Amino acid sequence: PDPHTPVIVAATAGTTDAGLIDPLPAIGALCRTHGARLHIDAAYGGGLLFSDRHRPQLTGLDTAHTVTLDLHKLGWQPAAAGLLAVHDPDDLTALHHHADYLNAPDDTDAGLPDLLGRSLRTTRRPDVLKIAATLKTLGRTGLGALVDRVCDHARHLADLITAHPRLELHAPPTISTVLFRPTHATDTTVADIRRRLLTHGHAVLGRARLDDRLWLKATLLNPHTRPADLTALLNLVEGNTPT
Ligand SMILES: Cc1ncc(COP(=O)(O)O)c(C=O)c1O
Repeated sequence: PDPHTPVIVAATAGTTDAGLIDPLPAIGALCRTHGARLHIDAAYGGGLLFSDRHRPQLTGLDTAHTVTLDLHKLGWQPAAAGLLAVHDPDDLTALHHHADYLNAPDDTDAGLPDLLGRSLRTTRRPDVLKIAATLKTLGRTGLGALVDRVCDHARHLADLITAHPRLELHAPPTISTVLFRPTHATDTTVADIRRRLLTHGHAVLGRARLDDRLWLKATLLNPHTRPADLTALLNLVEGNTPT
C-alpha cells in the first residue's frame, strides 16, 4: 500500500472549548475520494441530533464509519456515558469473544442474546442502563427540547456579553459554550477570576486558550437556568458580590 495514503481521518463535531464543528460533508467527500476511514468525535455535539432545530449542524455525520458520543453533556447523564456507533456491524467483530460460560454457541444459535458482541464490559457497571432509562422517559423530542433550551441560554449569554461595555465575547456560540473575558484584562487576571469564583463557591467556569489568549468558558448545560442567573454570573465575574 502507498504509505502516503491516509488510513483514517478523525473529525470533531463539537470541540470541547468552543463547540466548533468541522465541515463534515467536505471531510466525508475527501475520505471517500482517498479511501480513508472517517471517525467523528461527536462527544459534545452528538446530542444536537435530538433537536429538530439543531440537527442540521451535523449534516455529514452519516458519512462516518464510526462515531463516538459522550452523553454526559448534551444527554444529561452522569459520567461515564460514552457510546461508539458503527456504520458497518462488522466493525464490531473485535468484540466477538467467546467464553463458554457466557455465550455457548448452542445458546447463541438458540437465540439467547449475546452481549459480548456489543461490549467487553461483562460484569462492569452497566452504564447503558441509565442512558436507556433517559431515552425511554424523555424520548428524542424531550431531549431535543433540553438541547434547544441550553443552546438558547448560550445565545442569550453571548448577547449579554456583546452588549456589555467591559466584557469581550470570543465568538457567537455554536453549541452551548460561551467564551468571554473582561476587555483589556491580562491572562493572569482571567485565571484569577476563575479561581476566585471557584474558591468562593459562586460559579464553576472553565478556561480555554484560543487565539493565544486565555478565556473564561461557560458551558451551559442546565435547562433550568434563568436569564437572571446569567446576569448574576456576569456581575460576579466583574467582582461584584452576589445579590
Ligand atoms: C470533544 C470531546 N472528545 C472527547 C472527550 C472525552 O471523552 P472520554 O472522557 O469519554 O474519553 C470530550 C470530553 O467529554 C470531548 O469534549
